[in-house]
Amino acid sequence: GFRIRESFSGRTAFILVAIGSAVGLGNIWRFPYVTYENGGGAFLIPYLIALLTAGLPILLFDYAMGYKFRGSPPLAFKRMHPSAEAVGWFQVGICFLIAIYYAAIVAWAAMYTWFSLTQAWGEDAEGFFFAEFLQYDGGGAEGAGISVDFVAQVGWPLIVVWVLLLAALATGVRKGLTAISLIGMPVLFLMFAVLVGYSLTLEGATTGLNALFTPDWGALTDATVWIQAYGQIFFSLSVGFGIMITYASYLRRKSNATGSGLVVGFANSSFEVLAAIGVFSALGFLAVAAGTAVDEVASSGLGLAFVAFPTIISEAPASALLGVLFFGSLTLAGITSLISILEVVVSAVKDKTGWSRPVSVAAAGLPAALISVVLIGGVSGVTILDVVDAFSNNVGIVLGAFASVVLATWVYRKLDVLRAALNAYGSLTLGPVWKTLIGVVLPLVLGVLLVLDIRDKILEGYGGFDTWVLATFGWGSLALMIVVSVGLSLMPWSESSAMHME
Ligand code: PHE
Ligand code: NA
Repeated sequence: GFRIRESFSGRTAFILVAIGSAVGLGNIWRFPYVTYENGGGAFLIPYLIALLTAGLPILLFDYAMGYKFRGSPPLAFKRMHPSAEAVGWFQVGICFLIAIYYAAIVAWAAMYTWFSLTQAWGEDAEGFFFAEFLQYDGGGAEGAGISVDFVAQVGWPLIVVWVLLLAALATGVRKGLTAISLIGMPVLFLMFAVLVGYSLTLEGATTGLNALFTPDWGALTDATVWIQAYGQIFFSLSVGFGIMITYASYLRRKSNATGSGLVVGFANSSFEVLAAIGVFSALGFLAVAAGTAVDEVASSGLGLAFVAFPTIISEAPASALLGVLFFGSLTLAGITSLISILEVVVSAVKDKTGWSRPVSVAAAGLPAALISVVLIGGVSGVTILDVVDAFSNNVGIVLGAFASVVLATWVYRKLDVLRAALNAYGSLTLGPVWKTLIGVVLPLVLGVLLVLDIRDKILEGYGGFDTWVLATFGWGSLALMIVVSVGLSLMPWSESSAMHME
C-alpha cells in the first residue's frame, strides 16, 4: 500500500501548533521563578546564550529529523539508521510519563478557573489546595506509604480532561490539532496580554519588577545558574522529547522549516518574558499589600500557581476576572502542550503498527489515562507527580537529547544529510556553526547537565522522599522506559506500518 502522511494545511498552522506545544506551564510559572532565583536581570544573559547555542540549534535538529525522515521518533531514528530505533522509543516513553501528570495539572487549572468565580479557597489558599481540594496525604515522606485512594473532586475533572484529549487526538492532526491551536493560541495571547496589562496597574507592580530584574552579576560565575538556564531552555522549547520531530514529520515537502523554527523559538521566549513581568507585578502587589518583602511571597512550582496566585486574586480589585484570566491561560497553554506530548505516543504506535488513528489513540491513550487517574487522582498524587517530573523531565529528556545528538553526529554521521534537507527550502542556511554546536557544544553541555543531575539525585535524594519512592517512581520508571524502548525496537514493523509506505 502507498499512502501519504497527514500534513498540515499550511505554514501558519504548523507554526501555531508548534507554538502551542512550546508555550506551556514552563513559560507561565517556571520561567518567572527560575529567573528570580538565579540572578534576576543577570539571568537573561545565560538564558540568551543557552537559547542561541543550544535551544535553537537543537530545535532545528529535531525539525530536520522529522522533516527529512518523515516519521514519529522511532520511525525517524530507524530511517536514520536501523539500529537507532530504541532512542526514538525512549523519547516516546518520556512523553508517556510526562502526559500522566501534566494532565492532572491541566485539570487542576481548569477547576481553579471555576473556583475563581467564587474564590472557593477562602482565607487559606494553601490549606484549601493541599488539604481540602487535593486531600493530599503527604505520601512517600518519612516512611509514610503511598496510597491510591480516589479523590472524587480531582479524579473526575481528570477523567474529563482525558476524554477531551483523546477525542481531540482521534480527529487527527489536520482537523483536531490545527483547529484547537488556530483558536486557542490567539485567545491565549489575548488573555495573557490583558492579564499582564492589568497586573502592571496594580499597586506594588514596580516593587515586584525590581525584585525580579535587579541583576545580581555575581550569579554569572555560578555554575548552577548556567545549568538552570540550559534546563529552562530545553524544557521550554519542548526539544529532546520527540515532539518537534513528530510535528515536523507532518510538514509538506518543500517547506521552510528553519524559518518556522526561528519564529517558534523567539515567540516562546517573548511569551516567557511577558509572563515573568505579569507574575512579578502581581507578586509585588501581594508583598506590598501584606507589608512584606517579595521573597516572602514568591514561591516556586505548584505553590506559585495554586497558593500565591489565589491569594493575590482574593486581594486584587476585579478579582474574578483576574482569576479567570490567569487560570484560563494556564489551562489553555497546558492543553495544547499536553496534546503535543501525547501525539508523540499516538503517532509512534500508528507508525509502527499501521493501525488506524482512532485505534492508535485508544492503544496509547487508555493506558496513560488509567495510570494517570489511579496514581495522580489519588491522595498521594502530588508526591508521584513531583517525583516523576523530577526524573523524566530532567534526567529523561537530557538523556534522550544527548543520545540523539551524539548518535547523529559521531556514530551515524548524518549531520550533513539533515542540514541539506533543511537548507533546500529554508530561509536560513545551516553551516559549520550549526554542526559545531550540535556535534560538540551540545554533547558537552548535555553531558555535564546529566552527570551533575544524576550525581545530585544519588547523593542527596530528592524532595525528602523515601528511597523506595524514588526507586520506584523515579529511577524505576526511567529504567522501565529504557527496557521497553529496547524491547519495542526489536519487534518487527507490521506490513501495513509507515515503514513500508511513502
Ligand atoms: N514546553 C512546555 C512549556 O514550556 C512544556 C512541555 C514539555 C511541553 C514537554 C511539551 C512537552 O511549558
Ligand atoms: Na515553553
